[in-house]
Amino acid sequence: MKIYNNPELFNLWRESHEKKANEEVQFLKSILEKEIKSLLDIGGADGVHTIPLSRKMKNVKFTIYDGSANLLDNANKKISEQNIKNVKTQVGYFENIPQVLADQSFDAAISMWTTITYVNDLEKRKELYKWLSENIEKTIIIDQSNFYNYPKSDLSKSVEIFKNYEITTTRKYTINENYLRTGSYTFNFKNLNTNEEDEIYDPETVQFIEPEEIDKLLGTKWERTNTFGSYNQKHKFDKKNSKRLITIHEQK
Ligand SMILES: C[S@@+](CC[C@H](N)C(=O)[O-])C[C@H]1O[C@@H](n2cnc3c(N)ncnc32)[C@H](O)[C@@H]1O
Repeated sequence: MKIYNNPELFNLWRESHEKKANEEVQFLKSILEKEIKSLLDIGGADGVHTIPLSRKMKNVKFTIYDGSANLLDNANKKISEQNIKNVKTQVGYFENIPQVLADQSFDAAISMWTTITYVNDLEKRKELYKWLSENIEKTIIIDQSNFYNYPKSDLSKSVEIFKNYEITTTRKYTINENYLRTGSYTFNFKNLNTNEEDEIYDPETVQFIEPEEIDKLLGTKWERTNTFGSYNQKHKFDKKNSKRLITIHEQK
């Protein structure tokens, strides 16, 4: 089962592992500050970035696109509870973006937290980037983990106490020479008040994409204007030490 299909546990895990969503939103805003009127959040889940951004950028129309109807339900709840007018959601697989959003265009696209990397099929990936190249008008931001400094295989466990839960994450994976990572996450959530436990086994395959490959997929209309190593514009990407690999492409 995918952890994304359980919005409550997904939120808990996401928050416990990235308590700096605010920093991410600030970072995005500083890059997108130029005139943009519309933004597509690819794999935007329950609006973790789009909802706070939509409050800071009221003249921009946001679309959260995600394959999980459950997470989008949560996003829609927040949108109506907070009376937000400039965000809509669209359910669909990334592989179907060229069909689902065929006649739509956006000034900017973001894909945060190693997400567009779920498109593993090369032909589908080419189609998706062709669509991005033709239907995004100004800026594309793609955020991945810095896979260059990952070990080629890993079996590790981390435990965190967060909001009265003991969260144990077990990672198991191998990465091949083309940066295809195959493996699984096992999440165990123990409620420290009731001792109840939930366990989710989440197998996944992720195709990390080298920056030069993104350049090639987007084609000659696009230029990579920056590559950052964290959610801070002062940190240029460094293969050895950076935590993230965040590419910024602008249309020439
Ligand atoms: C790693 S999470 C990141 C979510 C969010 N961007 C964040 O920063 O927390 C990946 C998201 O992509 C969605 N997803 C994964 N594979 C997908 C696919 N092939 N098509 C559509 N959505 C997908 C999941 O539902 C989930 O919301």
